[in-house]
Amino acid sequence: VKKKIFAANWKMNKSFKEAQSFCQSVKAALSSDFYNSAEVFIFPQNFSLAAVAEGASNTSIQFGPQQIHKESKGAFTGENSLDLAIVLGSKICLIGHSERRQFFAETDELVNHKIKLCQSQQVRPVFCIGETLAQREQNQTEKVCEEQLSRGLFGVDKQKNMVIAYEPVWAIGTGKVATNEQVKSVHQFIFEKMTGWGFTDFQILYGGSVKADNAKELISIPYVDGFLIGGASLEAESFINICQA
Ligand code: PGA
Repeated sequence: VKKKIFAANWKMNKSFKEAQSFCQSVKAALSSDFYNSAEVFIFPQNFSLAAVAEGASNTSIQFGPQQIHKESKGAFTGENSLDLAIVLGSKICLIGHSERRQFFAETDELVNHKIKLCQSQQVRPVFCIGETLAQREQNQTEKVCEEQLSRGLFGVDKQKNMVIAYEPVWAIGTGKVATNEQVKSVHQFIFEKMTGWGFTDFQILYGGSVKADNAKELISIPYVDGFLIGGASLEAESFINICQA
């Protein structure tokens, strides 16, 4: 049985101290039993990655950067090195979030490079895909998801664990959650594509306005292996409530 994944994406929020106290709260609230059936991921802003590394020590909490450069080190002023995140203990990395695609012009090709870099360093990529509202209204959802998947995963190792996060762009930070039917149908589509392409070890997370009060229903939808949570992951209490759903 696959473990459910509860992933916090803090985006550009949370200081070093806030990150430490969040970890303390999660540590106190989730027993070691919880981790038998679930995984907790935290994606802090880079200046707080070390705080999470410290706060997560001696726990099963995993953490990693929200964005990395496609080269692991070198003369790239201002960029984030996967190698250095690994030194802090990162075993996961968020790749291709829609905000990166939208505001920082990340292409499928760049996303593909980054996934390959993660795989070469034994880091699990959490690879985000999802359609915009206009694309959904034009019935392009499956086409868009398939393109993002096939381009992002071009030439990657299919035996290595891959976490896909399906996040409809129109549901991110808007309070508009996809319906159960919409979630099920896209997740099933992704599952069948991945299986058909020969991927043997993957999970599919849903993201987009996940809250404590809709988590229970969403987690029971077939093919939903967990969540990527933005806004509701900023307060330890609401994040813990979602994990306990
Ligand atoms: P949200 O963000 O939970 O605030 O909608 C999700 C995400 O961007 O990963």
